[in-house]
Amino acid sequence: MIISDDDNNRNNSPKRGDKVQKLPPKSKNLEAVSNEFDETYEKTIRPKTFDEYIGQGSLKETLKISIEASKRRNVPLDHLLFYGPPGLGKTTLANIIANECGVEIKITSAPALERPRDIIGILMTLKAGEILFIDEIHRLNKIAEEILYPAMEDFFIDLTTGKSQTVKTMRVPVQKFTLIGATTKAGALSGPLRDRFGIVHRLEFYNSEELQEIVKRSAKILNVEIDEDGAKEIALRSRATPRIANRLIKRASDYAIVKGDGKITKELANLALNNLNIDPLGLDNTDRALLKLIIEKYNGGPVGVETLAVALGEDIRTIEDVYEPYLLQSGLLMRTLRGRTVTKEAYKHLGYKIPAGLDNGQIGLFD
Ligand code: ADE
Repeated sequence: MIISDDDNNRNNSPKRGDKVQKLPPKSKNLEAVSNEFDETYEKTIRPKTFDEYIGQGSLKETLKISIEASKRRNVPLDHLLFYGPPGLGKTTLANIIANECGVEIKITSAPALERPRDIIGILMTLKAGEILFIDEIHRLNKIAEEILYPAMEDFFIDLTTGKSQTVKTMRVPVQKFTLIGATTKAGALSGPLRDRFGIVHRLEFYNSEELQEIVKRSAKILNVEIDEDGAKEIALRSRATPRIANRLIKRASDYAIVKGDGKITKELANLALNNLNIDPLGLDNTDRALLKLIIEKYNGGPVGVETLAVALGEDIRTIEDVYEPYLLQSGLLMRTLRGRTVTKEAYKHLGYKIPAGLDNGQIGLFD
């Protein structure tokens, strides 16, 4: 294959609540922690073993068996693809797998692999058995994909040097490694790339019991006092997503320190989350604006995502990858061939009168 620079300019994928990361203060005192969620905290809280990891039961079982089998056969683990909405633990699981296999993990994302030499450089420095984690793998460019294929399948890369008549190809071996790909959009992955993963698994949204356990576990690690009802309240408003639960704990904890006695109770969690405009279903201002727009301007839909993106001043990808999955999951929004439509649950939740046509037939998740 010809090695040439790809000048695609790709942005990093959006994540709900992404902010400029700051280093944590040296003190462990939460009073001193800034309002912005800090990646370092996310890492502190992150489970390191399957035993610590709550939820995704069937995936965990599949992975444990695959890891055990690869150890017994003394071969690297099959390549794995994780897909699903952001914040459900794809990176966390990749780190746990590396830990459980006792190998190093190299973490990168597709937008960082723009030039052929980026991916070649990483592949050539991988040691036997190591894990390469590529986030947002659906954004890998064609050239990088083609370099990956033989590396994934037969553990070599073809390096091409020179131009036209003088072109030379060199076959270079790479160590046997495991690729873990993560994506919010499995459908956007090319067929040949998807077919090269031995295990393809969707991460599911978490139920409220699992989230409550996650909240309690994280609070304990962060030394934050929280009671059962406080944990339940945060769990219910976390959009079925651990990353959001962990952010809300910190916000509620800050609030508890300033406005209360430091303990997160149901009442305090309520006050803190209302203060952040997070409603009882976990929706924020943008979620509500999106639903209200469809209700008020488009009679409940259908309306195209492009129109919604323009009206909300968000890009289409952010709407599709960050906002819609939970609205769809919670039965407030539907995707139809003609566009997005709200359900009667959305009318109910936002306090609108339910239109006659929706009041019969349609069955929502909360019925
Ligand atoms: N923190 C974030 N995700 C988690 C999970 N699945 N289990 C425990 N703690 C977590």
